Amino acid sequence: MEFVRYLIRPERWETLPPRWAEIFGRNAPLGVEIGFGNGEFLLEMAKAHADWNWVGFETSLTCIVKAGKKLAQTGVGNVRLALVDGKFALRELFPDGSVHRVYVNFPCPWPKSRHAHRRLVDEGFAQILSAVLAADGAFSLVTDALWYAEEAKNHLSRAGLVVQGPDPLPAGWPGTRYERKWRSRGLSVWQVVAKKAQAGKVERIAGGPMPHAKVSVPFEPGRIAALAGLKETWQDGAFVVKEVFFSPAEKIALLRVFSTDQGFAQHFFLSVSEHHDGVIVQLDGATVPFRTPAVKRAVAAVARALGETCSS
Ligand SMILES: C[S@@+](CC[C@H](N)C(=O)[O-])C[C@H]1O[C@@H](n2cnc3c(N)ncnc32)[C@H](O)[C@@H]1O
Repeated sequence: MEFVRYLIRPERWETLPPRWAEIFGRNAPLGVEIGFGNGEFLLEMAKAHADWNWVGFETSLTCIVKAGKKLAQTGVGNVRLALVDGKFALRELFPDGSVHRVYVNFPCPWPKSRHAHRRLVDEGFAQILSAVLAADGAFSLVTDALWYAEEAKNHLSRAGLVVQGPDPLPAGWPGTRYERKWRSRGLSVWQVVAKKAQAGKVERIAGGPMPHAKVSVPFEPGRIAALAGLKETWQDGAFVVKEVFFSPAEKIALLRVFSTDQGFAQHFFLSVSEHHDGVIVQLDGATVPFRTPAVKRAVAAVARALGETCSS
């Protein structure tokens, strides 16, 4: 369980972007790796640049556990890991001009055109980089897919970054599992490096206090059960209440909700429980999501559907 000390839960932080100096206990340049896999590159960077603070983002829980164990074996103290989509995290967790290096090694290329929207390095990602990179900051992409490197280069250039490559990855780069995999099959490995040239801007959407709403209606299981299927869709997002569960004594209801904000998907539970002379709708502590517009809208819509809203 030693690895747990490397894990951070930014979805639970009230203030975003956070103060990284407080999280690490020191002020230092920030390096980020997105999609760190088994964590070997992140660990090598943390050891080689012990005077930097390093943050890794992964969407795979298995990778978080593997990397966390690897870090714990060496005892490095300058790394934190979060289970979160790296594109969303890069935008929401770092102020403009604050990140010194961002690394993406062997992102899933999603070669089919119908999956193109899943590619990590896209137009939106390039805009986020142009905002969050420090004045002397740089982004490195390493991939075996030359077409992906070329496509990334175009996005990065259009966002105002100064781009070098794709070039063959220079010798001496810390290896990764996927690098060994592709090289063992005789494939070439390419690097694109992008440096900040001008300040970019992005809109951030997450944070704020935990949304909740009190409603002056009695706790009526039948009425709450009827919330299954409640949904809203708007230009940038959507939510849907998929299922409703009740505690054995039918005093607490849990609503399973799926939401998206600009393609960032979350699922979580809202609870409805008795509160003074009515009910309270709030996020359930077991599945705390980032407090995005879709999450806030889900809380408000459930409260509205239950009755008159007193406060939120
Ligand atoms: C092909 S693997 C490469 C792993 C490692 N970088 C390496 O070179 O061995 C891609 C990794 O990116 C992770 N990933 C995919 N999309 C992601 C995202 N949006 N944010 C964070 N991690 C992501 C996957 O879970 C997977 O571990």
